[in-house]
Amino acid sequence: MVGIGFRKDFAEAFLQSDVLRPAFIEVSPENWIGVGGYWKKMLYKALDKYPLFTHGLSLSLGGPDELDMDFLKQVKSFLKQTGARLYSEHLSYAKCDNAHLYDLLPIPFTHDAIRHVSQRIRQVQDFLGQQMAIEIVSYYTPVAPEMSEIDFVNEVLERADCQLLLDVNNVYVNSFNHHYDAAAYIDALPMHRVRYIHMAGHEQVEEDLILDTHGRPIADPVYDLYAYTVSKLNRDVPVLLERDFNIPDLSELQAEMEQLASIKSSVYAFAH
Ligand SMILES: [Fe+2]
Repeated sequence: MVGIGFRKDFAEAFLQSDVLRPAFIEVSPENWIGVGGYWKKMLYKALDKYPLFTHGLSLSLGGPDELDMDFLKQVKSFLKQTGARLYSEHLSYAKCDNAHLYDLLPIPFTHDAIRHVSQRIRQVQDFLGQQMAIEIVSYYTPVAPEMSEIDFVNEVLERADCQLLLDVNNVYVNSFNHHYDAAAYIDALPMHRVRYIHMAGHEQVEEDLILDTHGRPIADPVYDLYAYTVSKLNRDVPVLLERDFNIPDLSELQAEMEQLASIKSSVYAFAH
């Protein structure tokens, strides 16, 4: 099953035709909590047709401030009202001293940070009464690391006992920028924890730097890493196409989703 991020930019065109035919949609609760009137109607029109996954932006799991329980209450009722199948968030921080930062910052790969963030993920899961999925983010400067990224991620997943939202493009971008082997990184992840996959486009801005922009079609090496990931999964895991900028004609997005589905079924058929 292949889904698409549901965005206001193309909501009308999407709902008025059947050009784009996702198996599910994903939204950020932050963009829809408290929204009424016309846009609320549009969201519920989409929910009549498609199952919903949610992907939060501002919980700031790695941040130093207390978790915002008022906000979490709103998330909990949003999940209930919309019948969302799951809640995911970033392994990052988005807030410091109660000021929201404009980007998702990486958590330092340290033992203290593992304790801090895994306890917070447990707290959120207890409050929501369900497991959540955590996404590995792309980062550009490792902050005073005490261990490798993969060891950090694995320890957090284990201690928090949460699911993994595996963004294959992020793994590719990080492996390119920080010079490690992306396939070996995938090999080292706990595949049984993968709840769903993200796929997106990126932009190479310098010879040795790729930015995770979500503004272009998926690049060929990311398709290759995706095929490799699917071969390791050994089961049918949902995949989401993320496209946040330079939204093309919907038929182009549909073609990318079909490409993702066909790679998945051919790898899966080959393996079984
Ligand atoms: Fe993602």
